Formats: sequence, C-alpha cells, structure tokens
Amino acid sequence: MQIVRFDSLESTNKYCEALDLAEVGDFTCYWALEQTAGIGQRGNHWEAAPGMNLTFSLVLHPAFLPADRQFKLTQALSLALSDFLSFFNFQFSIRIKWPNDIYVDGKKICGTLVSTRLAGTQITSAVCGIGLNVNQTEFPYWVPNPTSLALLTGRGFDLEPLLRQLLGCIERRYDDLKNGLDPEPEYLERLLNIGVPARYKYNEEEITATITGVDPHGRLLLTAGDGRRLSCGMKEIVLL
Ligand code: BTN
Repeated sequence: MQIVRFDSLESTNKYCEALDLAEVGDFTCYWALEQTAGIGQRGNHWEAAPGMNLTFSLVLHPAFLPADRQFKLTQALSLALSDFLSFFNFQFSIRIKWPNDIYVDGKKICGTLVSTRLAGTQITSAVCGIGLNVNQTEFPYWVPNPTSLALLTGRGFDLEPLLRQLLGCIERRYDDLKNGLDPEPEYLERLLNIGVPARYKYNEEEITATITGVDPHGRLLLTAGDGRRLSCGMKEIVLL
C-alpha cells in the first residue's frame, strides 16, 4: 500500500484518470487534503470543505475479476466502508444505499465513484474515488442530507490515521474478493430498504416499490406495488 498525498488537486479521480495506470502499483492511494472540483455521481459536484474530510482515489488492478462482474468491486468497497464505520459503535444504523452510498442514521456520510479500464473481458485497472465526511459539521444547503463522523460522535479526528484504518478495511475486503468470496450476500443484508416498501421516483412516475436484490450487472431489482418487476440503472430510479 502506498499513499501519495497532495495539498490540493482539482479531483483525485481526475488526476488518476490522466495517469498511465499500468505503471501504478496495485493499491496506490492518491489523497488530496483539498479538491477544488471534486466529482460526484451523475456528474454532480462533490462538496468537501478543505482539510476537513477524506477525499482520495485508490488505484486497483483487479485482473482476477471479469469485466461483466465489476459490480462485485463496488459491493466489496461498500462493505469495507461500512466495516470501517462500524468501529465507531454508533447507536445508529449503517446502511448501504444502492449502489454505493453509505448512510448512517438515514444520512449520507460517504460516496464512492468507481471507473474501470478494460482489456477484452478483463478489468485492467479501477480508480475508486471515495469521499468520507469527517470533521465537517456544516454543509451548504444544496448538499442532500449529509452527516459526518464529527456530527455523529461529537469529536474531531486526525485524517491520516483514519485513512490508514479505512485502507486496511478495503484491503481486507479486496483480498476476500481476490480469494473468490462473493460479497453479495452481505451487501444485500446491509442494503437500505431491502424488503421494505418505500417511495421512489421511477423515470417520471412516483411509485411504491420493494427492493428484492441486484442483478449481476449491479442493476437494482424491485417489485412495484402493482406487481410489476423492475430492473433499474442509476438514471432510472431515485429514492424519495
Ligand atoms: C457520490 O456522488 O456519492 C460520489 C462521490 C465521490 C467523491 C470522491 S472524493 C475523491 C474522489 N475524487 C473525486 O473527484 N470524486 C471522488
């Protein structure tokens, strides 16, 4: 494991995308204390006050994983992040919000953005960008439903030891994946709203539906109140 630290970058994911990843060792972490243009899911901006949170990208070479199974990496990362949060012994629930947000007490503490490069049917490299809210206690009004370790515990944290602990959790789940352990059963156990009817925006409709699982490509599977079976990508469904 190697950590490369920057005071400020536009975005750690963007920085990694510009590298010749074949030359980067497996499990190299690019960590920035500040991102001036952090990228979130759906092309959104990732908000993180300078020096207060963890924003990093981990370069992996999961050549053992076939390209059509790349969602397993997302599942393993989500489990690692929830493992890490469980060390804090919150009285609150820690849940994975599909596909890979981590929610504590119903609020988002962490987001992940994974991009992969393929050669034929294999994954040659993955850039796993992770943003974890740590010491920030105030967020702009437009950040939906945020929380942080400081808000949950009432204290502040040194970032570097926290990063090392989190990378340790990721390494364990990554090794499990390498060793052929399927993360899916635990991922489903920790999935927010699985088996529970909830309100969603499905394309332009508002519906009640129950999550039943995920398919091998990571699409969310639900049964709507009217009995329809739905299989959804990120752009098709939003939890209300
Ligand atoms: C999300 O929207 O939930 C995903 C957020 C991912 C943010 C992280 S912060 C480090 C890395 N660099 C980026 O620009 N984005 C990811």
